[in-house]
Amino acid sequence: MNIKAKLIKAFALSIVIISGLFIFISWATAENQSNFIQPIAYNHKLHIEDIGFACLDCHSNAETHARASIPNVEFCGDCHDDTEVENPEESKVAEHVNNDIQIKWVQVHKVPDYAYFSHRRHVKLAQIECETCHGEVSQMENPFVSPFPSMKMSWCMDCHTERGVTNDCYACHR
Ligand code: HEC
Ligand code: HEC
Ligand code: HEC
Ligand code: HEC
Ligand code: HEC
Repeated sequence: MNIKAKLIKAFALSIVIISGLFIFISWATAENQSNFIQPIAYNHKLHIEDIGFACLDCHSNAETHARASIPNVEFCGDCHDDTEVENPEESKVAEHVNNDIQIKWVQVHKVPDYAYFSHRRHVKLAQIECETCHGEVSQMENPFVSPFPSMKMSWCMDCHTERGVTNDCYACHR
């Protein structure tokens, strides 16, 4: 092999390695983004349709605070304190209740700290329905595995444009 052929071969090989690495990295990060596993298989549909709860019964800070909040385990304890039930997911809830241990829910929807979002502003002042931003949660039988929708800047800005709300950088990046 002459020098030129060797160089071409080395060059081709490095392209293969670099693109392989790139594919691996994007695979690994994509995997991370949709890899939310909750400790208990909570079922929105059952608690809303069969029992008759409303969103604000559980996410009670949504009208008054920036964060919507998830109820603590004492709330679940009104109905789930029996560990001797058939459904293992329900008995997990009861175990937490009886031992007074909070369930470690993983927060799925999250904007970075450098962007400001307030539920109160949108739910109370602008009167936007939960479903407008979060989709048909009342039909979900399993917990979220990834944010829906994406929660990207363009999503915020598209609605602000549509509704004539400011898109000044400093409104969201304070
Ligand atoms: C007002 C009563 C009530 C409250 C409060 C309540 N649940 Fe339930 N939950 C039920 C009933 C009823 C069922 C269905 C039981 C059955 O079919 O055996 C259920 C079922 C479940 C199941 C099994 C889901 C499935 O798909 O079968 C889980 C998990 C669960 N609840 C978690 C929770 C958690 C977590 C909380 C607190 C945030 C909570 N529940 C609060 C009444 C309640
Ligand atoms: C009985 C209590 C209860 C009711 C009622 C309820 N939720 Fe939830 N919600 C939970 C619990 C527990 C979790 C955490 C587990 C999960 O992600 O499914 C949760 C999670 C969520 C999340 C994801 C949180 C995150 O980490 O990003 C959203 C969004 C949400 N609920 C919206 C709603 C909306 C919209 C309604 C009304 C249609 C509603 N919920 C009604 C208990 C409730
Ligand atoms: C204008 C869009 C919008 C509306 C309307 C909205 N949300 Fe959210 N929600 C978001 C965004 C954005 C996040 C991530 C916020 C963060 O990082 O603090 C979020 C996060 C959440 C979370 C998880 C973190 C937390 O704040 O506790 C829950 C639970 C939730 N929303 C429930 C609700 C419920 C219930 C309603 C209706 C009462 C609602 N949301 C209305 C956009 C919205
Ligand atoms: C579905 C529509 C919608 C979406 C999506 C939405 N917003 Fe808004 N936003 C509004 C409306 C309407 C108002 C005006 C509320 C009022 O009446 O004060 C508002 C107001 C605001 C304000 C106050 C602006 C001011 O005047 O100072 C901030 C900050 C804000 N939104 C941030 C966000 C961020 C961050 C996101 C995305 C994570 C987002 N919004 C997504 C509709 C939306
Ligand atoms: C309505 C709210 C809102 C407004 C207005 C807004 N941003 Fe953002 N911005 C966000 C949110 C939410 C994120 C985080 C989500 C994401 O990365 O898309 C973000 C992320 C960013 C990032 C990091 C993006 C990245 O890809 O890593 C930059 C840079 C940025 N914004 C600059 C700006 C500038 C410049 C303006 C004014 C022209 C602006 N933003 C206006 C909500 C807003």
